[in-house]
Amino acid sequence: MATVDQRPTLRTEIAGLSIPKLAAEHGTPTYAYDAQIIKDRIDDLKQFDVIRYAQKACSNLAIVDFVRKNEVCVDAVSAGEIRRALAAGYRTQGEPHPIVYTADIFDREALELCVEHNIHVNVGSADMIDQLGEVAPGRNITLRINPGFGHGHSQKTNTGGEQSKHGIWHGDVNDCLIRADRHNLVVTGVHMHIGSGTDFEHLAQVCGAMEKTVAEVGRTVNTISAGGGLPIPYRDGDERVDIGKYFELWDRVRNRIASNFGHQVRLEIEPGRYLSAESGYLITEIRAIKRMGDNLFYLVDAGFNNLARPILYGAYHPMSICPASGVDDNRSMQDVIVGGPLCESGDIFTQEEGGFVSKRSLPVANVGDFLVIECAGSYGFVMSSNYNSKPMAAELFLHNGEAFVARKRQSFEDIIRGEAIPS
Ligand code: LLP
Repeated sequence: MATVDQRPTLRTEIAGLSIPKLAAEHGTPTYAYDAQIIKDRIDDLKQFDVIRYAQKACSNLAIVDFVRKNEVCVDAVSAGEIRRALAAGYRTQGEPHPIVYTADIFDREALELCVEHNIHVNVGSADMIDQLGEVAPGRNITLRINPGFGHGHSQKTNTGGEQSKHGIWHGDVNDCLIRADRHNLVVTGVHMHIGSGTDFEHLAQVCGAMEKTVAEVGRTVNTISAGGGLPIPYRDGDERVDIGKYFELWDRVRNRIASNFGHQVRLEIEPGRYLSAESGYLITEIRAIKRMGDNLFYLVDAGFNNLARPILYGAYHPMSICPASGVDDNRSMQDVIVGGPLCESGDIFTQEEGGFVSKRSLPVANVGDFLVIECAGSYGFVMSSNYNSKPMAAELFLHNGEAFVARKRQSFEDIIRGEAIPS
């Protein structure tokens, strides 16, 4: 299996564009997405009949539009994500379904949108079947099944097993079929997603569970979805998932189901992280360097309001330094702690799960140099907030040698929009 070699810790360009120039033109902190990397990851998955992008990972319209133009379908988990898919040009009808709504509940707005636009629904609770059936009988639906086990890079991203709120419990399939029948809803799809950042062995277990559930649902099924969860190599030496081997496992399951049913069965995959994580770079500027006893801190102008994964999961992101000059001047290395500007001690990008601060070997840097946080294109910007009244970062889409402003940095007016002082 291919492993990822050591990444450079000194970097002057992203997608052929100078980092100091990007920073001068667009300010910092700024997210930059390299479109070519997204394209390469899409190509990796081309064996699957349908690639459905889990846009929750990075839902900027420029990215959603880009994956659409590369024949990728889309998943939406909220009314807002349905609206984003529509705004990015997705049609509502077609085979395979261009947009699927996947959730464990319908809030009222999402139900209305699914009914109005006839958007295919992947139901994660029996109540959703009744709620949809009452207002839109006769539709096709997919059942999202919790197979009774799950796995993720953190317990917080494990979406299977008894402790997870996600999906329909595998023992409740028959009850759901009875409910569906009551409303003339036809179950045409079965979906399983056991967690995010899962390893190959756990992903492979889903195949058996899928076969069992599909047999229970019966021959109305024409689509199976392996969900998302594919890991990406965040650390040097991490292995890449063997996509060919993963496809083969699923293809065998699909073929067995198809020959039992005597009709074709479509195989979907639903990645978020795999498509966008490696494309994303968070460009920050080092604003202070200080020593606390034995520890040296690089303090940058992005915080967990911009990238929450380290504080939430102890997630590791590769980092590099770009000299302010933009010239690789061959610097020596030192162990540092990287933190942000927020008034909270957990605002540290180099930490383990549980909040334990760790050190990172990075080139010697000066105030005014740039620090780039890498593999930040999934669950980066989308999980950002206005904590400490900080504006959300700008987002740049780097394509064909140009930096397109996919989202302007928020202004102070954007932050307080909708607030009021009582008279
Ligand atoms: N499909 C379903 C039903 C999901 O719940 C998810 C992720 C995906 C697909 C995409 O999973 P992926 O391929 O990206 O692993 N904020 C966390 C990840 C939460 C994932 C939630 N669901 C993180 O930063 O790691």
